[in-house]
Amino acid sequence: MELILDTADAGQVRELSDMLTITGVTTNPTIITRSGKTPEQVADDMLSVLSDDQLLFMQTVATDFDGIMADARRICSLRPKSMYVKIPVTHEGLRAIKAAKAEGLGVLATAIYSADEAFLAAMNGADYLAPYVNRMENYGDGVGQVEDLLEMLAANGLPAKVVAASFKNAGQVHELVRAGIQAVTVPPEVVYAMVDHPGTGIAVGEFSAAWRAAYGRDTFAAE
Ligand code: E4P
Repeated sequence: MELILDTADAGQVRELSDMLTITGVTTNPTIITRSGKTPEQVADDMLSVLSDDQLLFMQTVATDFDGIMADARRICSLRPKSMYVKIPVTHEGLRAIKAAKAEGLGVLATAIYSADEAFLAAMNGADYLAPYVNRMENYGDGVGQVEDLLEMLAANGLPAKVVAASFKNAGQVHELVRAGIQAVTVPPEVVYAMVDHPGTGIAVGEFSAAWRAAYGRDTFAAE
């Protein structure tokens, strides 16, 4: 499974890439505007912390076909490899997904609210499909829709990877990992919620205290 970070914060990308196995980073226009930086600064910051093999996903902003295609070409020119354009699955966006794939661009279909939208984007050749799990919960069963989508893709032999997005808690991620999802994009605070079980810190504190009391030092290795 691919663990992707949903953030414009390069410092957190560096920190979490050192600690965990991180496939790449997704951003969207809201994440970029909230960073207080220009899109160019965010792209530069990300490229300075990502390895050549870590993927970067940036989203088109234009809403008409020609504008989406211009944004897509610009985004995919930011680096020679490991670059993907995110295109929302509007009518114009679905058309652009087909055209972008015909040009050989890496494409993630985004702003997906149903298994059917995602499936149709996969038929257009999208490499990744990003259902917005938490937002989908406002309309029904987000996790269930994504589980349906996994079955629909498998039943039809479509190779698109599902990268579940819009997570608000670790439990949503857990359920989809258990269901065999190919990828998740998760905000750093939710990743930390997955990592930081209080019991682990308590256990390590007990080990350290016992060792110090018995041997008067804090390491296994003696000086
Ligand atoms: C990622 O690709 C999506 O843009 C993102 O997860 C959406 O998350 P939100 O629902 O928190 O805006």
